[in-house]
Formats: sequence, C-alpha cells, structure tokens
Amino acid sequence: MKNVVKIIATFVLLLGTFSQVNADELFVFQDAQLKADNGKSAKIFLGVPVKVKKDMDTSAKVSVYGFLDGENVYSTKNKELLIATLDKGFKTKTIKGNEVELVGTIEKELLTENGAEVWEEHEEFFYEMCTQCHAAQAPSHHTMIEWEALMLPMKGFAKLDDEENSYLLRYLKSNASNGLVKTKH
Ligand code: HEC
Repeated sequence: MKNVVKIIATFVLLLGTFSQVNADELFVFQDAQLKADNGKSAKIFLGVPVKVKKDMDTSAKVSVYGFLDGENVYSTKNKELLIATLDKGFKTKTIKGNEVELVGTIEKELLTENGAEVWEEHEEFFYEMCTQCHAAQAPSHHTMIEWEALMLPMKGFAKLDDEENSYLLRYLKSNASNGLVKTKH
C-alpha cells in the first residue's frame, strides 16, 4: 500500500511542470543525491529544505545548511535529526563552528515547492496508527526530544515495528517545533 501511494505520488509529481523552479526555497521530495563540482555526493534526506542558487535545465544548484559531525549533517547543533550523510571527499563550507553549507546539484524532479506535500503519506500513517486511543497531537506540538521520548511507549501501544517506528519518528521530528529549520541564509 505504501509503495502504491509512493508510485502514484511520484507519477503526479512527474506530471507537474517542473521545467522552471520559481521559489527560492524548495524541499527534497524523497531521499536524493546532491552532487558537488568535484563529483562527490551527499545523500539528502526527504523533507530537507534547499536554497536554490542556480536553475539549470533538469537540475538545480542548491545549498543545504546544517551542523557537521564526521560524515553526518544534522538540522540542529544538538544532533537530533540527521538530514544528510557525506561521501568521502565531499567538501563542506564552514559558516561558523560546525555549522556548514553543502553545495551541489540535484535533479529538479526530486524537489517540490510544497513542504507539506512531502509528508502526506507519513501524515496518513500517523493518523491511522495514532488516533485509535486518543486524538492526535500535531507534530509541531512537541520538540524533537519530546517526540523521541513519547514514541518509546507509543511504539508499543500502536504495535509498530522498528521500520514503522523510525518512519513515523522522522516525520514527527522533521515537523516538530524545532524540527527542520528553514534555509534562513
Ligand atoms: C493503544 C492505545 C494507544 C495508541 C495506539 C497510541 N497511544 Fe498515545 N497514549 C496512550 C495513552 C494511554 C496515553 C496516556 C498515558 C501515557 O502518557 O503513557 C498516551 C499519551 C500520548 C501522548 C502524550 C499526551 C500528553 O499530552 O501527555 C502523546 C503525544 C501520544 N500518546 C502520541 C501517540 C502517538 C504518536 C501514537 C502513534 C504512534 C500513539 N500515541 C498511539 C495510548 C495510545
């Protein structure tokens, strides 16, 4: 079922006219590769905001901002949400401290202007699994740390397996009050 929804969503997305990117800030629609000028890649996770620097034919040159720890990039200093992983040799630009900018090209068909659209399938699963006993609280109602703690008992209550649990947790944390931060730069 999940896959069918994904295929339909991808199909609808491909039908859209993506020849032109208008907005300054777009969102990665699914896990995607960011390719640097030196040929090295970084994996960018779904939902992550990117800032468009240059609109090219089928791709766009974009920036992604985050906090670096080894090969991992997180949305905050506290490293609560992994937003990218770097291949060996991928060079980041330091902004200050361990705050970095990742620059590279990305396929435009993997980007969307509508940040909420990214999470439609997750949201559906969330409401399906988490409203059996009580009303759902919006993801923005809690911080990332709070969701991590809340999901410990709720994983059992909702009978989620590990994969479903991390799928939901990524949705909840990304949309938490301190989740994916905008590309303010
Ligand atoms: C089998 C019933 C059941 C299911 C399914 C369930 N919950 Fe709960 N939930 C509870 C109960 C009972 C409490 C209150 C007791 C507690 O805090 O442990 C609660 C409390 C909560 C709270 C805290 C509310 C507050 O303000 O303190 C949140 C948030 C929450 N659940 C989220 C979820 C999420 C997310 C899911 C889906 C993954 C979920 N719940 C699925 C029974 C359930």
